[in-house]
Amino acid sequence: MVLKSNYTGSTEVVTSGSNPSNKSSSIDSNNAVGLQKAQGYSVSLSKQDLILEKVETISSWANQKTDSIYESLVSRTQQVEESQVDIFQVDIFNGDKPKVLVVDDHAASRMTSVALLAMEGYEIIEADSGISAIELVAYSSPDLILLDVMMPEMDGFEVCQRLKDNEQTRLIPVIFITALNDRHSRIRGIEVGADDFLTKPFDRLELAARVKSLVRQKRLNEDLDHAEKVLFSIARAIESRDPNTGDHCERLVQLGRAFGEYLQLSRHQIRDLMWGGYLHDIGKVGIPDNILLKQGKLTDQEWEIMRQHVLIGERICHPLRSMRGVIPIIRHHHERWDGSGYPDKLKGDEIPELAQVFQIVDIYDALTSERPYKKAYTPEEALSIIAEETVKGWRNPQLMEKFAQFIRQRYQI
Ligand SMILES: [Fe+2]
Repeated sequence: MVLKSNYTGSTEVVTSGSNPSNKSSSIDSNNAVGLQKAQGYSVSLSKQDLILEKVETISSWANQKTDSIYESLVSRTQQVEESQVDIFQVDIFNGDKPKVLVVDDHAASRMTSVALLAMEGYEIIEADSGISAIELVAYSSPDLILLDVMMPEMDGFEVCQRLKDNEQTRLIPVIFITALNDRHSRIRGIEVGADDFLTKPFDRLELAARVKSLVRQKRLNEDLDHAEKVLFSIARAIESRDPNTGDHCERLVQLGRAFGEYLQLSRHQIRDLMWGGYLHDIGKVGIPDNILLKQGKLTDQEWEIMRQHVLIGERICHPLRSMRGVIPIIRHHHERWDGSGYPDKLKGDEIPELAQVFQIVDIYDALTSERPYKKAYTPEEALSIIAEETVKGWRNPQLMEKFAQFIRQRYQI
């Protein structure tokens, strides 16, 4: 997106080649911005070193939108001369220039970090308030945020908290800009999820190193996040191949969470249980349609192939660290308490706890759902069938008892 404007804020004065030493006096003491200090680290902001190729703001766009909130948002792309390519610090990103959002209510304060980061080859966006920052993050998806603590209306802590609470923005690293020895701000910053801290005045090398490291980490995290999403998509596609199951996975996720909370499992265990709801049968992607969708009974040989789905699922998810807690569910959700299940014929508490918990939820949902070959059983009927299976030795009697209590409480029966 190219957004043009006639923005002539203080930052432009610097980046368009004015001698910064002439401007440093305009920076108030509150901001403690050290252009002179920055020069001490060989940052020359003279015209020879830094040429503003484009100054783009979204102000004009904001005007068109007649939404005053965007009036204060400033976006720009800055590049150094071709001859200065050797000072680029962000070439590791293969030409995909990372975008940094600088948030500070003082334009003069933003000026230093904008200039330094532009020198490193980053695309810079600026916001002059917390509210503007939240809007701009949603709009432009930055790779990192440099965030001032003290701002009117919405301070940096609240901005950070909101971003970290939001599934869409939680992976964006946030660096708080604090005064030296501001211990209180650092502690508060950690509480709201800050990824790092920088003190003013900036050390150019430190700023560059921290920003580069966090952006790299963010991109790795994103790749992982994308990999997880791909797995969930595959799981959904598999579910849709089998028209008999309907929204089986979604129901498993909801019931799994409720039963996990009833059992007072940890937050991570509940998350694994929910993920198990989506992913437990992901290995069915490797089962041929003529077996997976066969209407009649499976032959022994076909059953042998069908049972492979737990091993295929484990192999699919194994490379992802985040799947470690889900893999026992995937591999062992067809084991039986008496050792007559598969794939490992585990007995009793050899079966991982979460696999036992998941299995009982899975069976209950299958029983209470209508399928072409059977009606939907009532909760009581389903519980009595699972109780029969427990008598046969297939289920954990204690867990079965807790599950029955949970269902009776949930449905007031
Ligand atoms: Fe299965």
